[in-house]
Amino acid sequence: MIEIETRRLVLRPLGMQYLETVHEYASDIENTKYMVFLPNDTIEETIEFLQSVDKEWASEAQCSYEFAILFEDKQIGAVSVCVDENSTGELGWILHKNYWRQGFACEAAKALVEYARNELGVKHFIAHCDAENIGSYKTMEKLGMIRTAVNEGRKNKSSHEERLEYQYEMKC
Ligand SMILES: CC(C)(COP(=O)(O)OP(=O)(O)OC[C@H]1O[C@@H](n2cnc3c(N)ncnc32)[C@H](O)[C@@H]1OP(=O)(O)O)[C@@H](O)C(=O)NCCC(=O)NCCS
Repeated sequence: MIEIETRRLVLRPLGMQYLETVHEYASDIENTKYMVFLPNDTIEETIEFLQSVDKEWASEAQCSYEFAILFEDKQIGAVSVCVDENSTGELGWILHKNYWRQGFACEAAKALVEYARNELGVKHFIAHCDAENIGSYKTMEKLGMIRTAVNEGRKNKSSHEERLEYQYEMKC
């Protein structure tokens, strides 16, 4: 099994064994305020998501790599990279709100970028977030990514409002 170690964290393939801890943050309004596909209103939605994650990890044509972030043996969030046919990797992250602002997102994302470059041959990284999601775009900037677009029309699941979205990119 793939395991990536950082100073304080361990990254392991996400999957159904983390249902309880994933559902805790994935169903929380504050935790998912800026997200397009969350919150999950029912545990079934989280089960469906984790089934698709398990399937990807078992696939020979895997393109989505979702890692659980473990701190002191507890799953506190997830980081992901989704690789397309042009070796572009779309990055994503979420942390349980009790663990925000301690540098965990940056620590996990840096390790994932390194892994994606070295093991998956990713040559170009891209990421998107709500324009008010400071923690997310600061994480992108700390990785060395540059803002390349501001798009209109983002819809977060918990609101009907049309929002501005930032796009960040980085070439290797
Ligand atoms: C986005 C998220 C993963 C960031 O996680 P984090 O572990 O708190 O981020 P870090 O502690 O590594 O911080 C990264 C940088 O952002 C800054 N930052 C984080 N949250 C911030 C906030 N709310 N306001 C201002 N700056 C913030 C940190 O200060 C740090 O910059 P610095 O080192 O220059 O001080 C976390 O806020 C989260 O899970 N949000 C909910 C899910 C989400 O929105 N995911 C992204 C969807 S696109």
